[in-house]
Amino acid sequence: MDVLRQILVVLHIVGIAALLGGVLTQLSALRTGEVRIVPAMTHGALTMLVTGLALVGVDRQGLDKDLDTAKIATKLVVLLVILVLVWGNRAAARVSGRVLGTIGLLTVANIAVAVMWT
Ligand code: HEM
Repeated sequence: MDVLRQILVVLHIVGIAALLGGVLTQLSALRTGEVRIVPAMTHGALTMLVTGLALVGVDRQGLDKDLDTAKIATKLVVLLVILVLVWGNRAAARVSGRVLGTIGLLTVANIAVAVMWT
């Protein structure tokens, strides 16, 4: 079960890389106003949701590990806002810099919550 948890954490981090990497690829488009929601963002955000929920299941049921419910709920709410922004705008020809900035900041905020909330 611990190996499964480790694999899920690896995939969880791959999801962060895709989401944040997608945001970074669009930074140069801020100058031309051609910012788009790229597939790496939508797939990364979905990966975060699926692996995050699976981790909760494995930690709770499989490993009997106590999780901080407030921390997990905070991460879930922040990710749901990210999901609304990326899925809601995925077909748009361009999005505003504010949408891109909000997705990036919320992703970094969730990394801070994951690492600093003890
Ligand atoms: C953008 C969204 C998210 C980011 C950036 C993120 C980031 C991280 C990071 C860096 C870790 C490894 C450090 C640690 O163990 O605390 C982690 C672990 C974890 N995440 Fe997330 N996360 C996100 C969303 C979620 C969601 C939505 C859930 C659940 C609903 C979740 C559940 C978990 C769990 C349970 C662990 C602990 C794994 C363990 O040590 O057993 N995460 N997350």
